[in-house]
Amino acid sequence: MTMKQMMKRIIPTTAWVGLRNLKGRLCGARAEGAQSKRFKRWYSRDESTDKTRVETRLAFDIHRLEKGLSHVGFRDGFGKGVLAEISKRMVLLEKADSNYEKNPLYLQGLAVLHEYQHRHEEDGYDLSEAKCLFPARIWEAAHEYRPEDSIEAGSFVMNSSSKKDNLSRGFVDLAEHRYSVREYSSEPVPQELLDKVYEVSMKTPSVCNRQATRVYQITDPGKVAEALEIQGGFKGYAVPPVLLLVTSDIRAFMNNGERNEPFVDGGLFSMSLLYALEAYGLAACPLNAMFSLDQDRRTRELLDIPDYEFPVMYIAVGNFPESVPVCRSTRRLPESIITRI
Ligand SMILES: Cc1cc2nc3c(=O)[nH]c(=O)nc-3n(C[C@H](O)[C@H](O)[C@H](O)COP(=O)(O)O)c2cc1C
Repeated sequence: MTMKQMMKRIIPTTAWVGLRNLKGRLCGARAEGAQSKRFKRWYSRDESTDKTRVETRLAFDIHRLEKGLSHVGFRDGFGKGVLAEISKRMVLLEKADSNYEKNPLYLQGLAVLHEYQHRHEEDGYDLSEAKCLFPARIWEAAHEYRPEDSIEAGSFVMNSSSKKDNLSRGFVDLAEHRYSVREYSSEPVPQELLDKVYEVSMKTPSVCNRQATRVYQITDPGKVAEALEIQGGFKGYAVPPVLLLVTSDIRAFMNNGERNEPFVDGGLFSMSLLYALEAYGLAACPLNAMFSLDQDRRTRELLDIPDYEFPVMYIAVGNFPESVPVCRSTRRLPESIITRI
């Protein structure tokens, strides 16, 4: 007889179940602590100087500049703070990567800066203040950068006519032409179209088919505006006609080992929503909902989100305007992320 079998005989069943639960909770707490420590060990900090983490911060700031460049209300001279960050990270990347001239993020930095310079020159805007933020070699390299030769970054204008027959397009075509759209036409979004989007998104897989995802459809302009004000990542854009909040119902999960599953399932569901919206010819942009405690409390109060749900992400939705500038959001090459084992 094993030790475990002997213990089971001696200890009453209720106590045995209690012990097993306690062991589960302790193991869960240890895994949670280890996960949190690992995250803190490795996330990209302002003071990080290694290649990967410098690239992370550079990608973040390139995207901020792209957002400014793709803004319908483009404002000459915007983004001094972001430019200073891009300059700092490109200099760090020159040190961190001996092959930096071919580094995709470095090239994206040059490309986005090239568009910034070009757009301002077209407007006859004096860029001497921005120029001072960069070492001369980077500023000049950006000037000479020919995006068509290599990696592109920045913005381009998308026409809504290209979306007309989305429903009959194949998946690859649809996925390759989806872009986050942050500015919408003034037409209301038909409810029957949204219902079709929800219908197809219900086919999203979930752990043991427990279907924890919940969606809040917000159309009251005051509430949409307030929710986005709390969210903070959609500043400077008009209020979208529809805002979806994707959440996960924690009651669908069964132990601490599943604590990340709400975000996995909710993330998958969100991607289904994004593709379904694209297929039905609606414009959309996913928006961060990883809130601080204060943002979390205010959002719950505003939208009446129960304590047993985790916010996963927002999705702003609207109709495509006739044409709209979008960020290129250049992707890495597959070979840079795939490991064959
Ligand atoms: C979880 C998540 C959070 C995001 N948060 C924001 C946000 O707060 N503000 C914003 O303008 N875009 C946000 N985005 C959109 C990304 O910037 C965009 O998806 C990315 O640059 C890729 O571009 P694409 O969607 O055009 O392919 C978010 C995207 C995801 C997936």
